[in-house]
Order: sequence, then structure tokens, then C-alpha cells
Amino acid sequence: MVRNDTEISLETLAARVWERASARSGRFVLGIAGPPGAGKSTFAAALRDALDALAGAAVAEVAPMDGFHLSNIELRLAGALTRKGEPDTFDVAGYLAGLRRLRETPLGQPVSWPIYDRERHEPVPGSVVFERQSIVLTEGNYLLLDDFGPSTWSAVREFLDETWYLDVPHEVLAERLLHRHMRGGKSARYAETKVAQSDLMNAELVAGTRERADLVLYADGPNYRIG
Ligand SMILES: Nc1ncnc2c1ncn2[C@@H]1O[C@H](COP(=O)(O)OP(=O)(O)O)[C@@H](O)[C@H]1O
Ligand SMILES: [Mg+2]
Repeated sequence: MVRNDTEISLETLAARVWERASARSGRFVLGIAGPPGAGKSTFAAALRDALDALAGAAVAEVAPMDGFHLSNIELRLAGALTRKGEPDTFDVAGYLAGLRRLRETPLGQPVSWPIYDRERHEPVPGSVVFERQSIVLTEGNYLLLDDFGPSTWSAVREFLDETWYLDVPHEVLAERLLHRHMRGGKSARYAETKVAQSDLMNAELVAGTRERADLVLYADGPNYRIG
């Protein structure tokens, strides 16, 4: 096994996925879990590009868990709008159905996937379409969570061939989350409250799932370390 603190390049990580994905006939699904602000979306996009470059074709695509945020109107009706982002504010059944479709639909037939728009603050259906891509990079906070009230997160694991956990130090998270809220048009005051009262609590919950991952990665600028 690899020692702690081993540096690993994006290309090596892509080669690892490519090798495993090539060994199977259907789609290969890699889960990328981690706390909010860890850099999952950024990493998943970079890994997709590295896989496509390695294969010389579009073989990978990202399927974000964030696409299954409940809409603002649904959250408002449920009195949960201020808790947006917590584990029970997602359409978990929809996410599971999406993963099942990706697994069961033959390559070449379209499967569409929603993406969360950070400017409109709403999920947008059909933002990505999988066709011939045989590698799915599904990334999000709660991939390794136990069930949470009515939210059946534990069922996600059966759709994942392998799961990686992306981690960063706590203070880096707070800083990044503050900036992300403000970039999305929120005030500094809103951002500080949301980070302290919601995001960092979600991060704590996610941290409890770290041990379940097959691989723990730290992103350090453009480099990655195995933890
Ligand atoms: N490796 C990295 N080094 C420095 N900043 C990063 C890195 N990865 C992501 N970021 C920044 O951190 C913020 C959160 O990244 P994002 O990918 O949206 O996180 P997540 O999807 O885990 O919530 C973004 O502003 C992004 O530009
Ligand atoms: Mg993200």
C-alpha cells in the first residue's frame, strides 16, 4: 500500500481510474466525497479532463450530487430554506434513480443529469448528457453518509465502484466557503452566518464518513497527497 503523505499527480490518479474502468464492461462509477468547499467539483472536472486526455476521447463525465438540491420553492414550503445544503434538503431518491439510470442504460443512449447553478441558486435539469462516457465521476458531500431521517444516503454506496475522500484543513474550508457565498451574490454577514451555522456543521457530519473511503486525498494547490 501507499505510505502516508505520498505525493501523487493527477495523471497517476487518472491512470488508476482508467485501469479499473477498462477492466469492466459497463460504466465505472467513482464517488468523490468530502466536506463542502474541499474542492470536489474542481477536482472532479480536472480528473475528467485528465481521463479524456489519457484516453484520447471523451470517456469521463461528472455527475454532481448537488444537481439534486431540492428547489427553493420546495424548501420554502417545507420551512427548510435556511437549512439548504443539509443532508435532508436533497432529493436523495432522485439522485439514486439517476445513478441507477447511468448504471443500467447502455453506452450510446442518452442519460441527462442536472447541475446546481450557483448564480441562480437552483438546480438546472438536463445540464449534462452522458452518452458514450463510460466513467462517471459523481461528487458530493454525502456520498458516504448513513441514512439521515427520511434521506436514504446509505443506498448511494451500492452504486459506487470506488470512493475517494477529498480533504482540506478546517480553516481553509471556512475561508473558501465564505468567498463562495459572496461570489454567489450573498452579503458578508449572510455568508459568515451560513458558514458558521450550517456549512461547517455539515462538514463535521461529512468528516465522520472519511474512514469509509477507499482513498483519502489532500489537494494542495495543483498537487495531491494521499492521507
Ligand atoms: N486544489 C485547490 N487549491 C486551491 N483552491 C482550490 C482547490 N480546489 C478548489 N479550490 C477552490 O476552493 C473553492 C471550493 O472548491 P469547489 O470545487 O467548489 O469545492 P466543493 O465542490 O468541494 O464544494 C473554489 O473557490 C475553488 O476555486
Ligand atoms: Mg461542489
